[in-house]
Amino acid sequence: MKYINILLIVLLINTMTNAQDKTIEAKIDALLSEMTLQEKVGQMNQYSSFFDVTGPAPAEGENKMRYEHIKTGQVGSMLNVRGAKQVREMQKLAVENSRLGIPLIFGFDVIHGHKTVSPIPLAEAASWDLEAIEKSARVAATEAAAEGLNWTFAPMVDISRDARWGRVMEGAGEDPYLGSRIAEARVRGFQGDDLTADNTIAACAKHFAAYGFAESGKDYNTADVGISTLYNVVLPPFKAAKDAGVLTFMNSFNELNGIPATGDEFLQRDLLKGEWGFDGFIVSDWGSITEMIPHGFAADGVHATEIAANAGSDMDMQSYLYIAHLEKLVEEGKVDEAKIDDAVRRILRVKYKLGLFDDPYKYCDEVREKKLIYAPEHKAAALDIAKKSIVLLKNEKNTLPLAKKRQKIALIGPLADDKTSPLGNWRLAAENNIAVSVLEGMQAYKKNKLTHEKGVNLVTEDTYFHAHVKLNTTDDKGIDAAVAAAKKADVVVMVLGEHGMQSGEGRSRANIGLPGLQQQLLEAVHAANPNIVLVLMNGRPLAIPWAAENVPAIVETWHLGIESGNAIAQVLYGDYNPSGKLPMTFPCDVGQVPIYYNYKNTGRPGPQDVVFWSHYTDQTNAPLYPFGYGLSYTTFKYNDLNINKKGNIVNVSVNVKNTGKTDGEEVVQLYIRDRVASVTRPVQELKGFEKIMLKSGESQTIQFMLTDKELGFYNNRGKFVVEPGAFDVMVGGSSAETLKGEFELE
Ligand code: NOJ
Repeated sequence: MKYINILLIVLLINTMTNAQDKTIEAKIDALLSEMTLQEKVGQMNQYSSFFDVTGPAPAEGENKMRYEHIKTGQVGSMLNVRGAKQVREMQKLAVENSRLGIPLIFGFDVIHGHKTVSPIPLAEAASWDLEAIEKSARVAATEAAAEGLNWTFAPMVDISRDARWGRVMEGAGEDPYLGSRIAEARVRGFQGDDLTADNTIAACAKHFAAYGFAESGKDYNTADVGISTLYNVVLPPFKAAKDAGVLTFMNSFNELNGIPATGDEFLQRDLLKGEWGFDGFIVSDWGSITEMIPHGFAADGVHATEIAANAGSDMDMQSYLYIAHLEKLVEEGKVDEAKIDDAVRRILRVKYKLGLFDDPYKYCDEVREKKLIYAPEHKAAALDIAKKSIVLLKNEKNTLPLAKKRQKIALIGPLADDKTSPLGNWRLAAENNIAVSVLEGMQAYKKNKLTHEKGVNLVTEDTYFHAHVKLNTTDDKGIDAAVAAAKKADVVVMVLGEHGMQSGEGRSRANIGLPGLQQQLLEAVHAANPNIVLVLMNGRPLAIPWAAENVPAIVETWHLGIESGNAIAQVLYGDYNPSGKLPMTFPCDVGQVPIYYNYKNTGRPGPQDVVFWSHYTDQTNAPLYPFGYGLSYTTFKYNDLNINKKGNIVNVSVNVKNTGKTDGEEVVQLYIRDRVASVTRPVQELKGFEKIMLKSGESQTIQFMLTDKELGFYNNRGKFVVEPGAFDVMVGGSSAETLKGEFELE
């Protein structure tokens, strides 16, 4: 009976959605039939904020022209305008002046939180907590919508295996399965289940595609990706986002196999809009249409316009080319007007779905804005996910958690009292200096004697969004005081890592050790007092072999956002038992990069006595810390791996017991290996996970189901195949330590 009720509700919702869709399509038909070619092209044009709309209209120059463009229906979208009042003013220009009154859609980079900054996306991925990740995106959407916005350029779903690439901070790490689940969670979080609500916004899966495969980890660099990697690693999170209903996609700066993504007809038209049936629109990346000229793919702006429009880039972000050339190209027959109609239909569809035609000002309520920005429940959610994002990398002799009283603690390091770096990069709407520092977080635990020394400065001057980070590489005067403080302490807590602006767009690094003089500081303090807890703050995996060898406790805290210091202190003092697991492999040495757990075996996997096997002669093949790894203050024991196959459905169960004295959460991970296939498969592939809470002494049996979806793969013709043969199953608390079993697929 219950089942029938659910079925009826699903059917009803489907029927209602179909009816709604039909109404929307009819409205679009009617509107399109009234639009001039110039107005259609206008919908495909996006500008960035260019003047204070609350002031007088600009009298001359480019801004005057863009102002007029909005009033004459030649702009479909604005980015970087925010604030309920500002958005209302700008929206008014379009709705009240243009002939057809089509509302603008307002986009913004709402990447991790909005005003209330949550952990960087890579950190959130380390939580493996899909509910918390969805909640975090929900909070971000609520605040962004309260500021008049209705579209975020997130989630970034680019898989990356290269810690040198600065934008790994913005993604979910190296794994397509985890990346796909997180992509879905973020889309659900931003878009909610009612797009017409005033607190949900359109999401945007970006950067389509393979931006994370920039050669040598250098931003914007060429991506040369084989079919197997493209289909099995790069594309799955995009497909997952599409299936989760993401309303928009963004293409990408990079070329992929010789074709700039912005001009790639196969990716945009054939695959995304064709095979996958995506009915939203694709926005270009910032100026990426014009960048096809230096790429060597377009001769000039006119040519770039022709290529991008024909390839299926629906909206031009900041190249100013569509508005300049597209009409003429249609008149000359170089771009079919049907393609323009298709692009405009997609853009209007998203605007209708968001309810912008019913009320173009629905996001522009200053009272709501005041009430929702920095709402206490948003801070609570930021703290919750910050704690869950922390990964305990090492904890020898139970150095952690710290005793809550009668301890002399020296807090050392340039990031210990930093209130801006922990916010991380890509937090466009956030103010500086608003994070709780580690110093402040630890000061809340009053029964210890806490001293604080910076040791060294990390940078020589404050760094802002567009500037290069200037590292301090000479001034070591503070090291003596830090050493003196360490000598008097029972425990030293060192907060080291990257400045918040050392990762993110344009911020690739060739060396991924501790920057500046921090390694020197660490070794000097260690010589004085080796009882160190190293708190790392960074936006990418770091190569820290010396610390891993010599420091007894290491805690990876990434850039955790506004509640950083509180989250870190609660973990250090054991008020929260760490549960994060690495979403990206940590190398021993930058020379191992790209390093990832789901590699191929090769014909010479070794090890062998002679040199002729796949290895380095001066460095191990092993990572410093593997994918999926992370400790807890308790221990978990895995037992009773059971594999039960019925037809082509494989049920796997495992018993997990909390064998320690502390309650704790564990991420139970399931990997497979397809031993022999028509296209070689990785030595391990994540195919399931579940985060569970176990009280001390408690055990639970976890069930996984493997179906064709998990057992198949894309072959080199881009076709999904499920092949018979032997599979290994690995289940455990990291990709490295697993129980093993096997089964045979007929
Ligand atoms: C360039 C970035 O690559 C993209 O991710 C972002 O959304 C746009 N700029 C807009 O700011």
